[in-house]
Amino acid sequence: MTSPDTLRTDRYPAGSAAFPHRDLVALAGLAPWELLFLMDEAEQWVTLGRSSHKRDERLAGLTIINAFFENSTRTLLSFELAGKRLGADVVNMQVAQSSVKKGETLIDTAMTLNAMHADAIVIRHQSSGAVQLIADKVDCPVLNAGDGQHEHPTQGLLDALTIRSALRTKGMGGEIAGLIVVICGDILHSRVARSNIHCLTTLGAQVRVCAPPALMPSGIEQMKVTPYHDFDAALDGADVVMMLRLQQERMSGQFIPSPREYRHLYGLTLERLARAKPDALVMHPGPMNRGVEIDSNVADLPGRSVINRQVEMGVAIRMACLDVLTRKARGVEGWA
Ligand code: NCD
Repeated sequence: MTSPDTLRTDRYPAGSAAFPHRDLVALAGLAPWELLFLMDEAEQWVTLGRSSHKRDERLAGLTIINAFFENSTRTLLSFELAGKRLGADVVNMQVAQSSVKKGETLIDTAMTLNAMHADAIVIRHQSSGAVQLIADKVDCPVLNAGDGQHEHPTQGLLDALTIRSALRTKGMGGEIAGLIVVICGDILHSRVARSNIHCLTTLGAQVRVCAPPALMPSGIEQMKVTPYHDFDAALDGADVVMMLRLQQERMSGQFIPSPREYRHLYGLTLERLARAKPDALVMHPGPMNRGVEIDSNVADLPGRSVINRQVEMGVAIRMACLDVLTRKARGVEGWA
C-alpha cells in the first residue's frame, strides 16, 4: 500500500513523522502539523461519506473494539460507522451487559480486550485518566472517545474540521488562526472544552471561555484562553460560538441556581447571537438541552448553525484516526 495522496509535505513531514504516536489519548502537546495532518486526511472521508458507495476496504481483516463504559449516541455510532466504512470488523462492548458490572477491574478488562488481538481499541470511560491506563496495558493503538472531564480528542479535531469546512463553504479560506472562538457552558466538567482549547489554540485561534464562576476551572488562563463570566461581553466580535451542556452527571451539589436562571445569563438566544460577528458559526457537540444552553431557533438557524456538520465531520475524522493509527500494523510504506 502506498502513502495517501493527500499528504502535504509542505506542512508536515512525510510518513509516520507526520503523526508519530501509537495512541490518540489527548490533543494536549500535539504539534499544529499533527492536528492538520489528521484534519487533511479526513477530507477524503468527507468526500466518501457524501458519495453513494461509502466504503473503502483498507482496514479489511482488522478488528476494532469499541469499549464504552459511559453512555453515548453520536460518538459510539460514529466510531462504529467509521470502522465499518473502512472495511474493519467492529464490535461494541456493551458495558451494561459486561463483566464490569460483576466487579471486574479496569486492568482485567484491558487484558481481556488485549487477548482478543484487537487492532485498535476505542474507549470511553467516566474517569479521567482511565484511557491512558488501558493504553499502557495493551499492545494495539488506543483511541480516547472521552475520559471523564479530561479530553475528547476526536471531538476537538472534528470541531476544528467543521469550522474549516464551514468557512471554506462560505468562501472564507478556512484558516483557524486568528479566529475568535467562544466556548460557553460547563467548562469545569467538559472534556470537549479541554480538547477544543488545546486544538484551537495550537492552530492559532483566540479562545474565550465563558461560564458562571462555579463552572469555571481555576487557573484556566494557563491554557492560553481568556475567561469571561459575562456572556454578552464574551460574544463581542466572535467568529464561532460553541455551546456546552450542563454536565449534571458530573456535578456533586448545586452549581447553578436553576436552569431558568442559567438560560437567562448563559443561554444562546437569537438576540444574544447578534453580539457576535454577523456570520458567526454556532456549534454544539450534543446532546443539546434546547431551551437551556441554546434556543431551538438558534440551534436550527440556517446558514449559521453547523451542528449537523459537526456530526458529519465526526465520522470523517474518526476514519482518519483509525486509518492513520493502524498504518504501522498494516505495514503501510513509510509507517514502519
Ligand atoms: C460530549 C461528551 O460526551 O463529552 N458529547 C459528545 O461526545 N458528543 C458532550 C456532552 O456529553 O455534553
